Amino acid sequence: MKTISGPKTPNLLQAMEWILAPINYLEKASKNHPEVFKSGILPIVDHLVLVSNPKILQNILTNDRQKFMACKDGNEILISLLGNHSLVMLEGDRHKQRRQLLMPSFHGQQISKYGDDICQITHQVMAETPHNQVFTARSLTQSITLGVMMQEVFGLREGERYQRLQTLLISLLGIFNVPINVAFLFFPSLQKNLGKWSPWGYFLSIRKQIDDLIYTEIAERRQSGMTERNDILSLLMNAKDSEGNSLTDEELRDELLTLLFAGYETTANALAWSLYWAHRLPEVKAKILAELATLENHDPSAIARLPYLSAVCQETLRLYPIALVTFPRLVKEATELEGYHFPANTIILGSIYQIHHRPEIYPEPEMFKPERFLEKQFSPYEYLPFGGGVRRCLGEVLAQFEMKLALAEILSHYELILADQRPEKPQRSGVLLGPARGVPMILKETIVR
Ligand code: HEM
Repeated sequence: MKTISGPKTPNLLQAMEWILAPINYLEKASKNHPEVFKSGILPIVDHLVLVSNPKILQNILTNDRQKFMACKDGNEILISLLGNHSLVMLEGDRHKQRRQLLMPSFHGQQISKYGDDICQITHQVMAETPHNQVFTARSLTQSITLGVMMQEVFGLREGERYQRLQTLLISLLGIFNVPINVAFLFFPSLQKNLGKWSPWGYFLSIRKQIDDLIYTEIAERRQSGMTERNDILSLLMNAKDSEGNSLTDEELRDELLTLLFAGYETTANALAWSLYWAHRLPEVKAKILAELATLENHDPSAIARLPYLSAVCQETLRLYPIALVTFPRLVKEATELEGYHFPANTIILGSIYQIHHRPEIYPEPEMFKPERFLEKQFSPYEYLPFGGGVRRCLGEVLAQFEMKLALAEILSHYELILADQRPEKPQRSGVLLGPARGVPMILKETIVR
């Protein structure tokens, strides 16, 4: 039986490389350990293994309520942000029950109701973008995805609370865009409140103000009976689990922040990359526009079904997956998979980036080629930008819908160009991966059709 080995570098250096240069770290690992490797990237976890063999990962993700568990170990680095009651901090039956309660709000039928809003938010953000000046695609896509979060998740459209919450959320998420601040999450001993000018003290003061706004919003809705609305907060306030229990205010707060944290920057980075590829490779934009021209009108559901547009979004998430790894899974009892021995209590991360770069699955893996998704169907363990198993991304349908609609609307109504020809490289952005320079662009013209 094969034992699982890993880099010889001390864990602390591995953790630093993972924070500062995650792609280098994974590419070296792919050369030396192409299937699985023992890793030191999470200082709070003892036995951590990254899996980049799709067969092994399939076995794990199809059994992650049996031999394996979608545990909270490792996710605890997010506790200070998301709270104890967040879905990602739950395990076993409690996690299952919570998923059952949340899932209906994220089904395709529900999400399809947001189509017109997403298009409208996109046009609103574009209307605020000045012509002939350099801006980053990421700041634009952040405004779009934050608008969608505020409107569809929090149910806020305008007013003072909307403005304040939006500003605070931007500040909160901005803290962790600075790679070194991510160390506060990875090393809990650094989480010391040294006053509001210290990074952690600043974070705590912002979080407190956000909590207050959310609790006030929930209390007002309960009092005024304004819960019969279509936004996700209202749906969650009305949702009941199989035993008839609904979420407490604290649970609602934690889930709102979880959805925001999981859904805002992820989708913004993905959309920024898709804008980059559509302008870096002119044939990609031309093909999307040709496909859009076959539609009688821009009905959101029809746009979302377009095959080439879908393939562009899929390839965007393959080449530089926004989440490099899945959430952790725990080995409950010692097991053997594909000849490797996994001792009990090992923590496993599915290595999404490494799998998406396996040349036998994706020939010329560094090339952006949407056609691969039109020519071949990949298994859910060969292509998994949204993870898999019992923790598979809850917002997958919303994220893809947003990506396709915003990209289609921008390409068909606005003439954008890349501000320069320097290639955009992937870089850590918080716990995610995003375009290093944010994709500098210029808006040349608004096209009235
Ligand atoms: C392009 C955008 C997105 C990407 C690439 C992405 C990716 C992921 C990944 C890889 C996971 C872990 C899955 C696993 O461990 O197997 C995950 C979990 C999750 N995602 Fe997303 N996500 C995106 C957008 C969203 C959106 C828009 C929302 C909600 C509004 C969302 C909510 C969640 C939640 C709540 C979980 C945790 C599920 C659980 O613990 O059961 N995500 N996502």
